[in-house]
Amino acid sequence: MRRLGLALLVACLLMGTQSPGETGAEAWLRYAPLEDPSLKAKYSSLPGNIIPLDDSHLTHTALDEMLRGMDGILGRRLQIEPLVSDHSAFVLGTVTEVQAKFPRWQSTAPIRAEGYALAPVREQGRTYWIIAGADPHGVLYGAFRFLQEIAEGHDLRSITVSESPAAPVRWVDQWDNLNGTIERGYAGRSIFFDEGNVRIDMSRAAEYARLLASVGINGCAINNVNADLKMLTPEMIGQVARIAEAFRPWGVRLAMSVDLSSPKVFGGLNTFDPLNPKVIEWWKKAVDQIYAQIPDFAGFVVKADSEGRAGPSQYGRTPVDAANVMARALKPHGGVLLYRAFVYNHHLDWNDPKADRARAAYDIFHTLDGQFDDNVIVQIKHGPIDFQVREPVSPLFAGLPKTNETIELQITQEYTGQQRHLVFLVPMWKTALDFDLRAGSRRTPVKEIIEGKSFNRPLGGFAGVANVGLDANWLRHPMAMANLYGFGRLAWSPDTSAQTIADDWTRLTFGNNATVVSTIDKMLLSSWKTYEDYTGPLGLGTLTDILHSHYGPGIESAERNGWGQWIRADHDGVGTDRTVARGTGYIGQYPPEVASMYESLASCPDEQLLFMHHVPYSYKLHSGKTVIQHIYDAHYDGAVSASQFVSEWQGLKGLIDNERYEKILALQQYQAVHAIVWRDAVNQWFYKMSGIADVKGRVGHDPDRIEAENMQLEGYTPAGATPWEAASGGNGIVCKGQSACTASTTFNRSAGTYDVAVQYFDFRHGISTYSLYLNGKLLKEWRADNSLPTDQMNGDTSTRITVPGVALKAGDILKVEGHPNNDEPAPLDYLEISPSAR
Ligand code: GCU
Repeated sequence: MRRLGLALLVACLLMGTQSPGETGAEAWLRYAPLEDPSLKAKYSSLPGNIIPLDDSHLTHTALDEMLRGMDGILGRRLQIEPLVSDHSAFVLGTVTEVQAKFPRWQSTAPIRAEGYALAPVREQGRTYWIIAGADPHGVLYGAFRFLQEIAEGHDLRSITVSESPAAPVRWVDQWDNLNGTIERGYAGRSIFFDEGNVRIDMSRAAEYARLLASVGINGCAINNVNADLKMLTPEMIGQVARIAEAFRPWGVRLAMSVDLSSPKVFGGLNTFDPLNPKVIEWWKKAVDQIYAQIPDFAGFVVKADSEGRAGPSQYGRTPVDAANVMARALKPHGGVLLYRAFVYNHHLDWNDPKADRARAAYDIFHTLDGQFDDNVIVQIKHGPIDFQVREPVSPLFAGLPKTNETIELQITQEYTGQQRHLVFLVPMWKTALDFDLRAGSRRTPVKEIIEGKSFNRPLGGFAGVANVGLDANWLRHPMAMANLYGFGRLAWSPDTSAQTIADDWTRLTFGNNATVVSTIDKMLLSSWKTYEDYTGPLGLGTLTDILHSHYGPGIESAERNGWGQWIRADHDGVGTDRTVARGTGYIGQYPPEVASMYESLASCPDEQLLFMHHVPYSYKLHSGKTVIQHIYDAHYDGAVSASQFVSEWQGLKGLIDNERYEKILALQQYQAVHAIVWRDAVNQWFYKMSGIADVKGRVGHDPDRIEAENMQLEGYTPAGATPWEAASGGNGIVCKGQSACTASTTFNRSAGTYDVAVQYFDFRHGISTYSLYLNGKLLKEWRADNSLPTDQMNGDTSTRITVPGVALKAGDILKVEGHPNNDEPAPLDYLEISPSAR
């Protein structure tokens, strides 16, 4: 017994302060107990009773949430009281209901639809904590806000809040397919669909709606914009109604993406011409059928004439014709139609210097301004291309003063690291939202245009492509949830600072420990710049493989094809000339003040330079550096910052639960390695293209590297990577037709302690195994079991393992043995042996 007791004690001591694991499923709604007694004491005078003033579903939800939150955070079980009694209590109700009971109470500022007010009201020695909504939605949002204040330990004594959302449309889009896959989803399969049907189990859908409601999201379009034609079949509508049911208690209305050709392809008509009376009738009936089953249906999202989708152009009709027909069917039921402005020709002529995909949305939609019905909203991606790491804002925001607009932001990190890289997108979104387009030469920041303020529009708002999946933590990288959270916060109030959002999210997700909060805030807030630095700086776009995965480096893939994501790099210079004077004229789509800022090299900001202009590599930036040196330096700086995320994170060991700590550590370590892959690929490519050496002598000089193809090979054969720049020296080695191959090298440097890194390629499929030996003695064994996006030696799959602190002396033999598996030929790129930092 004594022994057992001792063993337990030792185990506890070893575990230290580390708490057991959390999967991340609770996200920012953990309601973790406030451990700091001084914080907890602040709330001792809060009441133990709660009074719901009405019977609506949403007030009920708010009540349940208050019970759950107060129990979790403060360990206090609230008693529900039906009427205003003689104890202090929380009071939940609409403004009208609250005022009927407390005639002296008034919200400090007027609140609009879905808004809320929080305030303590003192009457006859009692305190009533009012959580009043403009409507039941507001009551729910108010309850979440109240709980957030407590979870963060804020002082409530003088709290008086009155808040209203910036805009009525605050939706997420999910690009889920009926078969259960998710287009550009990185966290498992769909929470809604499986094998052609809506899932039986709606519990994740309901939990998702709760997360969305907690940050004020009020709509969710549940399926891929590349919509399945079966979506509108009566059977599917019946099934989808169950998703709407799961959303309803949280005030999240269901919307759907639909394909314009539906009336023809499965509707039995011989046309989908939007002006054909039969087609008009068909849409009306289809919509009526939806509302019969989903009375609070929010509306449709439409992608048409884009990337191969059917569209009105097939009949010589315009987006107005298509949008209005569907909008008129939705209108009597209160539905809206979000028509995406992401319409462009993806067979552009690369040889035409005037061809420019960036122009498309403005060219197509600007002339239609004023013709859309009032329940149509044009949904505009924040930049003119496609969610690249840096883009200017779309000039179309200023080009539709008589049309409702939503901004489309991408929460899922398609071009920004696919939730394997930490990239907090809120600073990027704020840059777009705060950008003043100077329409009519007055202040018209994008956020005020989409809020409807600038042009006095009744509708507008935010759509965020979220793509959460069945993974327990929703988005794969636990830190990516800061983007979902931040999207909701900005959609509610785009004036909120990135710092505030980062801070709130960190506290709610990881607790209030000061070191935790400051470390994570810093990582979040620097992460976009870091990613931009090691991927595509100066407005070049992400420089990824745009033809396939959109993940690792693939610079060349942008050029010489119809997709129009060209960077127009040649031996003399780089960048797309979009000037009015000499180029594609894109810059002329902006209002004059912004256009003249971009048109002139003297005033074009460095970070957009190569989006707007073609310049020689030796062109000097405002920073004083040449373009080429900036490219080199940014990639080295970015890779260093990514490696610092690892050490910053390691500083939090023991301060957060082990499960999330280890998961994030592994992701940060991977990111640091992939940043090196990016750095080397982009720098090698530009060095070859420009022929200009790095003034710091780094590019192309890696004295610590031993290329695998130069090692002594048994069974392994050299193979080129595609694209070449994804492998050091352009080549790696593969083990084909053998069960094992080896690559050896003799160490010939001075004796010392070294870190030995093995750079290899880990395909999506196959689990090759590797062993690293020193003089025949095993140093490390590992499995290539990551599921990176492709099955090739390229920028997606290049990765590494490092064995730190290896004592080496001249004459030592290092050998890597690879065992291929399932068409993954245990590929290797190089060994890097660098003096150990330890
Ligand atoms: C990107 C993305 C596609 C998506 C498209 C869209 O191009 O890669 O998967 O369908 O955007 O927004 O419609």
